[in-house]
Amino acid sequence: MRNESLNPESVPAGLEHFMPPTSPATSSHAPGTLVDKYGRHITYIRLSITDRCDFRCFYCMAEEMEFLSRDQVLSLEECLRVIRSFVGMGVTKVRITGGEPLVRRNALWLLREAGKLEGLKELVVTTNGSQLDRYAAEMHEAGVKRVNISLDTLRADRFKAITRVGDIDKVLRGIDAAIAAGFEGVKLNTVMMRGVNDDEIVGLARFAVDKGIDLSFIEEMPLGSIDRSRADTYFSSDEALELLRPHFDLVSSAETTGGPAHYWRIPGRRTKIGFISPHSHNFCDSCNRVRITCKGELYPCLGQNDALPLMPVLRGHPEDDAPLVQAIVDSMGIKPKGHDFNDQIQDPKVVRFMSMTGG
Ligand code: 5AD
Ligand code: SF4
Repeated sequence: MRNESLNPESVPAGLEHFMPPTSPATSSHAPGTLVDKYGRHITYIRLSITDRCDFRCFYCMAEEMEFLSRDQVLSLEECLRVIRSFVGMGVTKVRITGGEPLVRRNALWLLREAGKLEGLKELVVTTNGSQLDRYAAEMHEAGVKRVNISLDTLRADRFKAITRVGDIDKVLRGIDAAIAAGFEGVKLNTVMMRGVNDDEIVGLARFAVDKGIDLSFIEEMPLGSIDRSRADTYFSSDEALELLRPHFDLVSSAETTGGPAHYWRIPGRRTKIGFISPHSHNFCDSCNRVRITCKGELYPCLGQNDALPLMPVLRGHPEDDAPLVQAIVDSMGIKPKGHDFNDQIQDPKVVRFMSMTGG
């Protein structure tokens, strides 16, 4: 859209090859052009399109949340400019997150437009599943390749307790709709919490195996302050693995989706079981991603507070993507070597909830 009016004169010297494609048809992006100072290639962005959510998961949000007003969040057109600019710099995977991305009106428009971008190989969505029975088929049509659905329990009463307001039946219908829609992948995400859902780790794995979908167990991360100590409920991937081993024939797999999960296969089954272990296994060395909040803040690392605001650049130059591209290049200089979640579990320093940074 805006790229038609991009003025090549305004591209800073030396950045010509970072210019976004003038149109999808003439795209000539140079893969691997975004490299941070530790030599890591950034090929994956996670973009939160809203901080709002129809659930209030107790590990993710306070009960009373104040959400951002409309002008404080990027418009969907601005979201598309961000995606297009990154894809122009070699990003091949984009994850749309929230909050709950599907509660944003017209989220489908963004998915359809992003789905058309040449060079974007993987358009994927993380959702709580509550709207999937309505949108799964259209998302698939728009070009969404895979969906991740959060599910921490199979028990209705517990689901209500964890999400404070959610209805598990709606989510279970959403999971079935996603399976029926024909995505290349459907994966469940379970945040493990001692005393909350650790007795369901085997049950959730069996559910995924029966449905023929994948499942990742996630160690809880110290993001945002909540009304309990996260250290009390910390449950490690290794412990979960020991619980699962007697029930499933787990074979360690070298495959990766370019993310931090380590996967296990079950011979004869379609299901992959993954573990995302930010505490017990640090994966920062191979980090390939940055995150953008719905406010347009570019966070080079989930575990640090440093961010670069893209909104002033977007709004200050509505017709010219070159300054945006320059800001993105600059952000490579502030990507840290790694997170320090282990020091933070007692003394959290990241003040953002996952609903801001988008998982
Ligand atoms: N630690 C780990 N995972 C979290 N999520 C939300 N907050 C946290 C946290 N503090 C999960 C959600 C969802 C994904 C986007 O992130 O359950 O699966
Ligand atoms: Fe919503 Fe996901 Fe946060 Fe739960 S974890 S409140 S579903 S954004």
